[in-house]
Amino acid sequence: MLKVNQKFYPPQRVLEMAKVKDFEALYKKSISDPEGFWSDVAKELFWFQDFDKVLEWNFPRAKWFLNGKTNISYNCLDRNLDAGLGEKIAYIVLDEDGNEEKITFGELHRAVSSFAKSLLSLGVKKGDRVCIYMPSSIEAIIAMLASARIGAVHSVVFAGFSAQALRTRIQDASAKVVITSSQIKRRGKNIDTLSTVLEAIKGLDFVEHIIVSGECPQNFISFESLLSSSLADASLMDSEDPLFILYTSGTTGKPKGIVHTTGGYMTAVYLSTKLTFDLGSDDVYFCTADVGWITGHSYVVYGPLLNGITSIIAKGAPDYPSIRRWFEIIERYRVNVFYTAPTAIRMFMRYGNEFLKGIDLSSLRVIGTVGEPINPEAWLWYYKNVGLERCAVVDTWWQTETGSHMITTIPSYPAKPGMAGKPYFGIEVKIVDEEGKELPPNTPGYLVINKPWPSMLRDCFNEPERYNQYFNSIPGNVYFSGDIAVCDEEGYIMILGRADDVLKIAGHRIGTMEVESALVSHPSVAESAVVGKPHDIKGEVIKAFVLLRQGYLPSEELSNELKNHVREVLGPIAVIEEIEFVDKLPKTRSGKIMRRVLRAIERGQDVGDTSTLED
Ligand code: WT7
Repeated sequence: MLKVNQKFYPPQRVLEMAKVKDFEALYKKSISDPEGFWSDVAKELFWFQDFDKVLEWNFPRAKWFLNGKTNISYNCLDRNLDAGLGEKIAYIVLDEDGNEEKITFGELHRAVSSFAKSLLSLGVKKGDRVCIYMPSSIEAIIAMLASARIGAVHSVVFAGFSAQALRTRIQDASAKVVITSSQIKRRGKNIDTLSTVLEAIKGLDFVEHIIVSGECPQNFISFESLLSSSLADASLMDSEDPLFILYTSGTTGKPKGIVHTTGGYMTAVYLSTKLTFDLGSDDVYFCTADVGWITGHSYVVYGPLLNGITSIIAKGAPDYPSIRRWFEIIERYRVNVFYTAPTAIRMFMRYGNEFLKGIDLSSLRVIGTVGEPINPEAWLWYYKNVGLERCAVVDTWWQTETGSHMITTIPSYPAKPGMAGKPYFGIEVKIVDEEGKELPPNTPGYLVINKPWPSMLRDCFNEPERYNQYFNSIPGNVYFSGDIAVCDEEGYIMILGRADDVLKIAGHRIGTMEVESALVSHPSVAESAVVGKPHDIKGEVIKAFVLLRQGYLPSEELSNELKNHVREVLGPIAVIEEIEFVDKLPKTRSGKIMRRVLRAIERGQDVGDTSTLED
């Protein structure tokens, strides 16, 4: 049995190898002089022109490494070639059938530089938006780095999103180019991605070019044909030039385009990849995230490349063709560092541990999780059965907006199951009430970040007022994460969940309003309210309360039709688990749906104060 608050000390072999042995000392140093700390980290990377000021904080706007000129593609590629890593493998990509594709840093440099040159010839300029609708693949990485190389701003859209969701994102960013693959293979089936793109861009005349990897119809540009032009040098980018936009769900029906810039993002992602995972130059690293999410951006693409690390990418689903797949990959490639999500761990856990028998996982040293709270049972299962009680487990808390790890333990520091850990180097957080007053230990409250950090979001694309909301919802000039958390006497932080109407379905973020607006776009639906319902594996699933229009009657059939409709509008991450037809929704007298009441009923909890309830 696990004791409450039990600490797991780092195994000797992990401690011996650790780059940072004294977490607390480095943490203290990092927050006593954050600018000095970050400046030193930034200088480990290459700058065409040095920055002359580390930080300009003009609440709520921050600028980092002012007047510094750099390029992240240069730092990911050219810098590694200069260090003699040209022949080193950058990625090993495995498809569902076990076929292996390898690319060295040298080859990647060549492909990216040539693709960048081709983008320039197509008229893509600095600041133009390039939409990338591709699964995790070498091609997606080439497209991202080539955009960064010439200063185009990439917007990667997770390839599981529907045509409509893709259209919204292309439109919001007014992307000039869309890069896609002709199809994706998942669970043995081919999904036609190109037709989704064609549906998404209908009538959007600002889209000038469609680039297709794989089978390319004549009227489009073949991705592969863009890999043999001459090479483009990396452009000089200002530290604060935008690097990418990544859309994520908020509390309105419309996703927000989180904007990250060059120098600060690069610096924080470089450091966190190195220290959270304690990566050594000979390590093999395997992160299971898709490049379409922030984890893929920071910890599949930029972080490992900036550190010159060999990474594994597994295409397709985690449990196809077998649930042994990821573990066989770990065995086959002697993976040292593995990074995945609690929902995957809980799925594996359901199979017991028999399925792991006979697979050699002894190469592992650090195993990480991200995306949602990990319950202590799942943590322990992971520690025992994957980590064999000889690995450090790191539970990393962060967000699309934060760009890099904000709360975690590092491998040399004791972890507590179920608790994300402590504020990261250079990061100060607080747990506060709605007035911004700091709360004592063991009192749940809002999780805020006190000071600017290099990889913080710089804007919400086209919607600066939404950017401001992060900083004006809690008094005290702090960034509000949207999460509720609690800390213990030792300063370990446990994330309790979201404070707002954002759900975490199998680690994926989705807004209740997005699902509600998808539902009411169906002719039968008058009104709806969506809440998260606890689930053993997925953490949370979507439950919808639906009020039908006159002339429609509740039925199993209609329920299925609505589920399919939402899936079509938003894509397969928005699968509704349960629909309940109701005659009335709980509302305040001013007409706002009280989801809190529905959520409490769903969880069998006390509904709390209902004095503002209309009826
Ligand atoms: C939200 C951010 C950051 C990469 C993937 C998710 C939740 C994230 C943890 C964790 C508990 C976590 C929070 C956060 N979350 N990591 N280790 N423990 N909760 O990025 O889609 O932007 O979602 O995910 O609720 O606010 P995202």
